[in-house]
Amino acid sequence: MTATNPGVAEGGAGRGAAPARAAGWGSGGFSGQAAALRRRYPTVDDLKARARRRTPRFAYDFVAGGVGEDLCLARNRAALDAIVITPRLGLDVARIDTAITLFGRDYRAPFGVAPMGLAGLLWPGVDEALARAAQRARIPYVLSTVANTTIERVGQLAPDVFWYQLYGVPGNDHAVSFDLVARAERAGAHALVVTMDVPVRSKRTRDVRNGLVVPFRPTLRTALDAARAPQWGLAMLRHGQPRFENFLAYAGADANTTDLASYVFQKMAGPMTWEMVARLRQAWPRAFLVKGLLHPDDAEKAVSLGVDGIVVSNHGGRQFDAAPASIDALAEIAARVGDSTSLIVDGGMMHGLDLLRALRCGAQAAFAGRAFLFGYGALGEEGGDHVARLFEEELRLALAQSGAVSVAEARGAGTTM
Ligand SMILES: Cc1cc2nc3c(=O)[nH]c(=O)nc-3n(C[C@H](O)[C@H](O)[C@H](O)COP(=O)(O)O)c2cc1C
Repeated sequence: MTATNPGVAEGGAGRGAAPARAAGWGSGGFSGQAAALRRRYPTVDDLKARARRRTPRFAYDFVAGGVGEDLCLARNRAALDAIVITPRLGLDVARIDTAITLFGRDYRAPFGVAPMGLAGLLWPGVDEALARAAQRARIPYVLSTVANTTIERVGQLAPDVFWYQLYGVPGNDHAVSFDLVARAERAGAHALVVTMDVPVRSKRTRDVRNGLVVPFRPTLRTALDAARAPQWGLAMLRHGQPRFENFLAYAGADANTTDLASYVFQKMAGPMTWEMVARLRQAWPRAFLVKGLLHPDDAEKAVSLGVDGIVVSNHGGRQFDAAPASIDALAEIAARVGDSTSLIVDGGMMHGLDLLRALRCGAQAAFAGRAFLFGYGALGEEGGDHVARLFEEELRLALAQSGAVSVAEARGAGTTM
């Protein structure tokens, strides 16, 4: 897609994108409801602050927190901030093209929604709302194995942008893992993303301190916490607690929220081995990615097993506090296998400028997790659209400012770091 630089005339992803005539100086090309939202929440950080005010602490911390002392979480941000891009000037950057093709599919922009399990704890309905927003914005949406909606439903809601993320369920020679994958294939998922960076469940200190257990059991403390967020409480009452919907097929159709949580806790455990990756690769006919790699040797191993892509990730700082920033790992992995596979990165993406940094370090695209959750937690249904619009606006400006007019140029020519 080619569109005019929003700093000059128009821009903005998805619903509410402005016709040029409605855009005034400083509007970024947004109009109507989109412009109003942009004025009140000009960045994802503003959405984060609102989501924090609207939700109980244990729910917000579950999303925003990391493992251990949050060092890896902070490292992701610090490493992105440290990337300096020296702009090239004197170039015609009036027309910016953010479109990409990934695994044979066209997307509007080089960013997507990372898989997030139990996101319904932040606010009910988030998975389906973000799937719809991704479909409207035409960016990849990756559904988590432990999402709070079903594979089949997302296949209907987001047919053009649906990817599926798998955690292994090792019992019975991975019968459930293969069934989940077969369901994703039937539901039309374009890509399978196999997460490798959870060999054990991590200890998320904030969750321990907040007494978070799933399903949520009210204690005096959590009840007081929830009382601070009455809208959240009402939404939970209306929707019921978030459940691991995709496991109803295996835990029994009459399984309740507690049964489903116990099933997932007991059965979905243990490492995703290379042997299993090889078997899944054979079983999956479409684009196949592994997620969570940080070491170039692991990236090389993945390529040798025939993956189509790698999501370089430290799980948003939620697994291993000593892990490198994913953007730093990306640069090393790109140097080793960048010519033989597609690279996507996630971890700390909060601004369009971060997306440019990711492209500059060798990624074809960057995914964001929390940014989209904060959007929904702050604004509900419109939240995903708003985050996509902000990302696109900021990316367009960053591209133009750096001297690149396309994703290809951002990744290669035109700028020096
Ligand atoms: C609440 C939450 C739940 C997550 N659940 C999953 C999951 O089910 N599967 C997975 O592969 N990654 C999961 N992740 C990691 C994300 O896919 C992604 O790697 C990470 O959020 C990127 O960092 P960011 O949130 O800073 O953008 C989760 C992250 C969050 C914040």
